[in-house]
Amino acid sequence: MCASASPVSIAIVTDETVAAHYLERVLRGLGEKSSTIPVLRIPAGERSKSPEQLSAVHEFLVAHRIGRDGLILALGGGVVSDLAGFAAATWMRGIDWVAVPTTLEAQIDASIGGKTAINIPGGKNLIGAFHLPRAVLIDPLCLRTLDPRDVRAGLAESVKHALITSGEFFSWHEQNADAILALDDAVLSELIERNVRIKADVVQRDPFERTGGRMTLNFGHTMGHAIEECCGYALRHGECVALGMLAACRISNAMTLLDQGVVDRVKTLLERFGLPTSLAHSVGSMTRRNGAIAFEDISNVITHDKKARGQQVQWVLLQSMGKTRITTDVDEVFVRRGFDSLLNECSVSE
Ligand SMILES: NC(=O)c1ccc[n+]([C@@H]2O[C@H](COP(=O)([O-])OP(=O)(O)OC[C@H]3O[C@@H](n4cnc5c(N)ncnc54)[C@H](O)[C@@H]3O)[C@@H](O)[C@H]2O)c1
Ligand SMILES: [Zn+2]
Repeated sequence: MCASASPVSIAIVTDETVAAHYLERVLRGLGEKSSTIPVLRIPAGERSKSPEQLSAVHEFLVAHRIGRDGLILALGGGVVSDLAGFAAATWMRGIDWVAVPTTLEAQIDASIGGKTAINIPGGKNLIGAFHLPRAVLIDPLCLRTLDPRDVRAGLAESVKHALITSGEFFSWHEQNADAILALDDAVLSELIERNVRIKADVVQRDPFERTGGRMTLNFGHTMGHAIEECCGYALRHGECVALGMLAACRISNAMTLLDQGVVDRVKTLLERFGLPTSLAHSVGSMTRRNGAIAFEDISNVITHDKKARGQQVQWVLLQSMGKTRITTDVDEVFVRRGFDSLLNECSVSE
């Protein structure tokens, strides 16, 4: 499991839900001495990507004397891999970690590429590090116990990977939608493998997000993250990405970059996967302000987030299936129309 020849001490970080399903099996797999492996169970959910939980992981590592040759095994979804990966990055200036992703989101996205992070009130993923896991161990069968809503949320990232790299992969989703939703073994394995290859390939060409290649992975995330924050994390990350991708497609269409036909196909596929395509239906009264999300809230989060990062807002737009354009030059009118289209359930060009 670890490239080092010397014995290592392992510590497992997981969440309570995943522990109930898989901890015993993982411990059994780790052999005879596994009963001595320390385990930290964090509460399930996005709120655990917090400075408090990070501190709890560090305290746990102190308590179990995990040294520089130690290894953290992150067993769970993207929340666990982001938190435990960041704890590994910061512990003693960086120790090894291995990801055992148990959600589709984590198997095809969060555990690949070495981005780790926690959230602070000032914004999502603002504190983080690039720290690649030594290995990523994926078992598609884990998805059988996952809430179908979480499976669907993960599919949003698969649609994203297809949209930014390959029209053929997008059509593959259309052709195999029923088998994907039925968690057909062969189709699901193919989906995971293709996504891992796409993400790893993009990341390898721009590991630290410096040349722009990796930025394409943010497609749908500029508005998606803002929606996620404005609804107080009431929606799944992937659900917000679905809404953000549709808005980005409509902005691209309003700027005459993208054909309406592509926008329609994206909306149809998202709907087939049971992902939200309208804020009106998906958020309801679940927002932070206990009312509908206003464009001003979204716009504030988008600008505040980028200011906090000392960056201009870089929009990833779509020109055609598989072809993106990154630009800071998007008039607020288009952004507003893209957002409004999510409220009105109509395209901005209608
Ligand atoms: N670092 C990256 O590059 C990257 C990329 C994409 C997403 N992310 C992050 O990932 C997070 C979202 O990840 P997620 O969607 O996996 O959420 P999550 O980790 O919160 O998991 C979703 C829910 O599923 C439960 N669960 C996990 N595996 C299960 C299983 N096999 N069976 C039953 N229940 C299971 C969890 O306990 C949780 O309640 C977000 O914070 C997002 O920002 C990071
Ligand atoms: Zn994402």
